[in-house]
Amino acid sequence: MNDGVSESSEYIHGSSPEEQHRLSLLNDILNESCLRELNLQPGEKVLDLGSGLGQFTRLIARTVGSNGHVVGIERDRHQILQAKRLADSSEESRLVEFRKGDALELPLSGSEWGTFDVAHARFLLEHVPRPALVIAQMVRSVRPGGRVIVFDDDHDDFRPWPEPPGFQALWQAYVRSYDRLGSDPYVGRRLVSLLRDGGLTSIRNTCVFFGGCAGNERFQAIADNLIGALEGAKDSMLSGELLDEESFRSGIEGLRSWKAHSSAALWYSACCAEGIVPH
Ligand SMILES: C[S@@+](CC[C@H](N)C(=O)[O-])C[C@H]1O[C@@H](n2cnc3c(N)ncnc32)[C@H](O)[C@@H]1O
Repeated sequence: MNDGVSESSEYIHGSSPEEQHRLSLLNDILNESCLRELNLQPGEKVLDLGSGLGQFTRLIARTVGSNGHVVGIERDRHQILQAKRLADSSEESRLVEFRKGDALELPLSGSEWGTFDVAHARFLLEHVPRPALVIAQMVRSVRPGGRVIVFDDDHDDFRPWPEPPGFQALWQAYVRSYDRLGSDPYVGRRLVSLLRDGGLTSIRNTCVFFGGCAGNERFQAIADNLIGALEGAKDSMLSGELLDEESFRSGIEGLRSWKAHSSAALWYSACCAEGIVPH
């Protein structure tokens, strides 16, 4: 079905080396906490949609072990190439099968549908115009009694303090660049309804803390991830006339000074929801 809105939109952050560095940072910060929420069992068969650089996909594969099976699906060929390079350099190329494909039309063979124990997607739904179509593909891929687990952003839940000068204008432009591309910057709050509407049962939700404060070991990496995400979306913001160059520059400068402030704090968390595919 196509009613004029593209089903699969452009990915706002792209796949430049700087963006790939930012995505790696994000993985370093979040992977252990997200893994706990997945509650994986040895031997499980897992599908990871929008697998990016594959660091989390490989962690999933290490967790389910050699009796499990993990397939990562990624649309961008640069991300897939880099995911394979990273897996090679860690001597883990046999752990995960990376497949190029669209989460809206999963590249699964006839006999694979309905056989996965877990379908997972992290920070993917915020990049597609119709997240319900991705959930439908996830549900179809999982066996009865298996699980669908999604993590995603809600860009309203983002509070740096002391507030950096120029931050609000920059953040609003960033958030609006998502809806200009047809995707939902607030999809995190919709995760439970998306799972419920997708026919899943026994739904639970939680949050994974994604903030920190000055003096914490990982705070600089968290601040760098934030600045990197905003810098990566600069072209979308400027070309969409959501912000002018000077406001962009002063917003980023404000964040750089904030990052060095002795009481800088960021309050933020990623939304997570899980549901069971009914028998
Ligand atoms: C923010 S990254 C997250 C990557 C990974 N899940 C992680 O948490 O590290 C989103 C990824 O989804 C991919 N992507 C976006 N739309 C997609 C689609 N329709 N099908 C498959 N992958 C998609 C992007 O290319 C990008 O690599």
